[in-house]
Amino acid sequence: MKPFTGRDFANRGGLVAGAGGGMGLAIANGLIEGGADIVLADIKPEPEGIAEGPGRALYLEGDLSDEGFVRAAVARARDHAGRFDYLVNTVGVWWGGRDVSVVDIEPDLWRRVLEINLDSMMLTARHAVPMMRANGGGAMVLISSIQALRGDAVAQDAYGASKGAIRALSKSLAIQFAADNIRCNSILPGYIWTEMMHRVDGEPGGRENKQNIIPLKRFGTVAEIAGPSLFLLSDAASFITGTELIIDGGTTALP
Ligand SMILES: NC(=O)c1ccc[n+]([C@@H]2O[C@H](COP(=O)([O-])OP(=O)(O)OC[C@H]3O[C@@H](n4cnc5c(N)ncnc54)[C@H](O)[C@@H]3O)[C@@H](O)[C@H]2O)c1
Repeated sequence: MKPFTGRDFANRGGLVAGAGGGMGLAIANGLIEGGADIVLADIKPEPEGIAEGPGRALYLEGDLSDEGFVRAAVARARDHAGRFDYLVNTVGVWWGGRDVSVVDIEPDLWRRVLEINLDSMMLTARHAVPMMRANGGGAMVLISSIQALRGDAVAQDAYGASKGAIRALSKSLAIQFAADNIRCNSILPGYIWTEMMHRVDGEPGGRENKQNIIPLKRFGTVAEIAGPSLFLLSDAASFITGTELIIDGGTTALP
């Protein structure tokens, strides 16, 4: 086992789904800076700030809940690097206000949240696993949420259900494909300051209220998700599979 240096990814390849910003872009940049040749995919246009190397990046714009696009993106990733080692999936939407209790939610909205947050995980894994098998193994990191572990004070039932399902799916993938030398882990972030969170500035008490309930008294940063994600992908985590890493500044440790 090699010690983790954060630059362990030379001559490797893969796909970062949801890399148009936030955590996905930060993780993608860590892989590129570590030498991996990767495809970044997102429904958003290509963002600024993609790392320049030493690895090579290719950006694809499309809907990762659409199987045709996912199949093409995984194949492009394999061709780009000549192999496929890593799947990172950070795709997610948090539609608070419209994503409400099951008694009030529009069923079409419920289904769309599940399609984006959960089906994208199923589809990317479904197409990545055969590619990983072909080169003798690989590693996946799926981004869930601390809401996988608890209910919401203000119901956002589709989001919570999707995030709980990602955590369970990740464990199942880990067991199913361990014999193929494919590892799978999930990350459960707490409050991380990304575009997804900016809306709290519009709420009464906004950012302050949220920060006060976090034991470390601040939001996390995308770098604080990227570092542990890169560790879980790296060979330094070679005996870690089927588990989850909570990164929440202590929020879920509270009684
Ligand atoms: N920010 C937080 O506090 C927080 C907390 C817990 C969990 N998460 C989860 O972390 C992940 C990353 O979130 P983030 O905070 O970086 O926010 P983000 O909004 O920057 O990232 C989510 C990405 O998913 C992309 N996306 C949405 N629908 C898509 C689709 N149909 N096809 C392709 N791409 C699509 C978005 O364009 C966006 O780039 C999400 O799954 C989110 O639920 C975030």
